[in-house]
Amino acid sequence: MKKYISKFLIKRGFKTLLKEIGNLNAMDSAETIDFLFSKKAELITPWQFKEELLQLAKQIETMKPKIIVEIGTANGGTLFMAARLASTNALIISIDLPGGEFGGGYPDWKIPIYKSFARTNQNIELIRGDSHSDQTFEKLKILLNGREIDYLFIYGDHTYEGAKHDFERYRTLVKKSGKIGFHDIVVHKGSRCNVYKLWNEVKQNHDYQEFVNDWEQNCFGVGLIKNN
Ligand SMILES: C[S@@+](CC[C@H](N)C(=O)[O-])C[C@H]1O[C@@H](n2cnc3c(N)ncnc32)[C@H](O)[C@@H]1O
Repeated sequence: MKKYISKFLIKRGFKTLLKEIGNLNAMDSAETIDFLFSKKAELITPWQFKEELLQLAKQIETMKPKIIVEIGTANGGTLFMAARLASTNALIISIDLPGGEFGGGYPDWKIPIYKSFARTNQNIELIRGDSHSDQTFEKLKILLNGREIDYLFIYGDHTYEGAKHDFERYRTLVKKSGKIGFHDIVVHKGSRCNVYKLWNEVKQNHDYQEFVNDWEQNCFGVGLIKNN
């Protein structure tokens, strides 16, 4: 019964949130981040520090990407951010494994909600599968239909091997000089999150930026590289 009531309240919360989103005007990066971290958007607030995400948001705003791929969507916060700051005719593709580690994915009933984050002529496609499987990669290639990715965000499997796999495989679809973002580049003691190890390797060979409040914070932090 308790579970039923809480699901009902969450669904009602989403209805209110969607109305709110429907009334939003065009937003810049600062407004998008303020909204995401406001009480109104608490159902989709990203698992990230506001200041760090704002720095990433500014980069996306400057890029105005037309093709975005996000691995790891969960509550949908960074998907919403991508849609607000991408080109108005962008194709935005999310890959997330239902029940996946590091966040648990999202239930079926959120599919129309996430699709409704699309603005004007944007299209949001949701692939629900393991980023490490050939099937998922093939589905993505079909959706891309030969087009290259402008911005890839790796925010799914946070193990060293998992994130490395995503980086090495999906970067082959990113255009030269496109951008690739990594979540959780700060050392996270006592967890299975080892993206920092990968980040320390990757940044040796790329132009990179780091958005980190404090290297001792024991979580989060965002890294961004230029694909070469
Ligand atoms: C930290 S959450 C993403 C958070 C989100 N982008 C936000 O706005 O806060 C990580 C997500 O990655 C997904 N995930 C974990 N392993 C995965 C895999 N192998 N393939 C696809 N998704 C995966 C989980 O299901 C989870 O939803």
